[in-house]
Amino acid sequence: MAQQNPPPPPPFSLSSVRDRLSSLSTHIMGASNPSVFTAATVAAAPEDPLFGLMKAYREDPSDKKVDLGIGAYRDNNAKPWILPVVKKADDAIHKDPSLNHEYLSIGGLPDFTSAAQKLIVGATSPAIQEKRICSLQTISGTGAVHLGGLFLSKFHPQKPTIYLSNPTWANHNQIFTNVGLSLANYPYFSKETKGLDFDGMLQALRTAPNGSIILLHACAHNPTGVDPSQDQWREIAAVMRERQHFPFFDTAYQGFASGDLVRDSWAIRYFVEQGFELCVAQSFAKNFGLYGERTGAFHFISAPGADASTANSHIASQLAILQRSEISNPPAYGARIASRVLNDPTLFAEWEDDLRTMSGRIQEMRTGLRERLEAKGTPGSWDHITSQIGMFSFTGLSETQVKILRDKWHVYMTKNGRISMAGLNTNNLDYFAEAVDSVVRETA
Ligand code: LMR
Repeated sequence: MAQQNPPPPPPFSLSSVRDRLSSLSTHIMGASNPSVFTAATVAAAPEDPLFGLMKAYREDPSDKKVDLGIGAYRDNNAKPWILPVVKKADDAIHKDPSLNHEYLSIGGLPDFTSAAQKLIVGATSPAIQEKRICSLQTISGTGAVHLGGLFLSKFHPQKPTIYLSNPTWANHNQIFTNVGLSLANYPYFSKETKGLDFDGMLQALRTAPNGSIILLHACAHNPTGVDPSQDQWREIAAVMRERQHFPFFDTAYQGFASGDLVRDSWAIRYFVEQGFELCVAQSFAKNFGLYGERTGAFHFISAPGADASTANSHIASQLAILQRSEISNPPAYGARIASRVLNDPTLFAEWEDDLRTMSGRIQEMRTGLRERLEAKGTPGSWDHITSQIGMFSFTGLSETQVKILRDKWHVYMTKNGRISMAGLNTNNLDYFAEAVDSVVRETA
């Protein structure tokens, strides 16, 4: 009898091998519950554009690269600057024998919060005299924006929409969405003038439902560097009063914008003077160069009235509960430094010098950039570079131009055309102007 060939082995596929291995491993390890958080359940989030930009800059080996991305002050050598007054305060803290590492109270370091309060509304403000302002130390400005947003979301009886300027600091959108507020925009930047779209802004404030929350940048608007004039602020306040809107001020550049602490807090002080009920998120990252220490404060100011002080103490107590559930109590280090400076007249005066150093250098860069572009005859007008103020300039460069600047010239900036003026210095100003000139002509 002819011998039969054995049947061919069954065709094996990769998936059958995987199934077999998986059943073997279940057999050995014991069965586990199916995962809830599968890749399908949790979609991958995009990288934060600003921090992604910072990483890309660091990884770029080019010796020509220019970092105009994140808003952090740099000296003329493109290096982080430790303010001399901060160094002094820091040294004194290290030598202080009474220093310990105990918890702060829920509301933070009292010497810090009371000084932060005076700094923003003025030491003689009726809000302080009438005890209708409460202040909590927060995780920098971001924490203050969040605490304020959370409070409004939980306690505002109508839970109104919050109106943000278009454009605004990107994180505002995320923070207010996370606390469950609904968001809308008001026009702010005019592409034609590269200045304030004042009519558009006022019109939006007039048509927003009565009692809306309006987020306002107190000075050095991020990302545009465009601020209302004092007369325009007066008109904004008048419309907001008419419509009973609630002002939510974000202030991250007091003293850093103009070099003058009082001038940079003018809008907030004016609104307080006008008797608004309002809140303020205050950051000390930029004006003290305390970026990593996360030092800030949140203030709630009640409108004047017989009940104001009691209402304000209730608000303070609820804010404390919110703070306790989220961060328990704030970090001490940065607040100790700021507090030493804010409460010591000599150190305070030195701080004002440091503020003038930073704002002055940025102003020089503005003038230098504008002069260079104008001298080259770069198509377009460049006067907005000097009329805008603070850390940023909204150049008007398009996304395509921004991409060419990055790919060809190793210049890093956000894709909306914002540049951090602090990234410019006397060593890279010519190079940057040359890059902008070339890219503008190339894409004309
Ligand atoms: C910026 O806008 O670059 C800074 O305020 C940093 C930040 O946290 O976004």
